[in-house]
Amino acid sequence: MKAEAKASPRRHSRTEREEHPSGDDRFRMLETSMKKLRYRPDALIEVLHSAQGLFGYLTGDLLLFISHALKLPPSRVYGVATFYHFFTLEPRGRHSCTICLGTACYVKGGGTIVAAVEERTGLKSGATAADGSLTLATARCLGACGIAPAVVFDGEVAGHQTPESTLEKLKTWEAADGES
Ligand code: FES
Repeated sequence: MKAEAKASPRRHSRTEREEHPSGDDRFRMLETSMKKLRYRPDALIEVLHSAQGLFGYLTGDLLLFISHALKLPPSRVYGVATFYHFFTLEPRGRHSCTICLGTACYVKGGGTIVAAVEERTGLKSGATAADGSLTLATARCLGACGIAPAVVFDGEVAGHQTPESTLEKLKTWEAADGES
């Protein structure tokens, strides 16, 4: 009886967490991603990948959000986020381009987008341009599989991307930066 009483509110709290108070849609996508992973605490690294893909870097607020969702102590989430070099707690380039390489995006051409961007910029995933203009990253699943392949441009998720549309977006950034 005691175990049942505990299980019920846990399911409820997950449903209620659909909306982040900030109203930022990326939290909803992250929630979708975590739901797919059944909120497993051992999926922490995968969740952090998704979070960084969506937000560009891991803010304290984001780490707390994940800690609550996966029911892990904040110290554990923070510890893992700082242990692995591919996670960053600081913003990097002026612009960020994160290309999803999760299964749905990969089969729809995510890999060709990465290759095109790497060739165009000379950057590898996880790297920031020497002039600080761009950080390139890849993610495993952004929770937006329905619009695969997905790319996050400066925090905005764009669906149905191609190498051409992605390079076009990078060009608009370059042009805008050149004017300022
Ligand atoms: S695989 Fe899910 S958003 Fe790319």
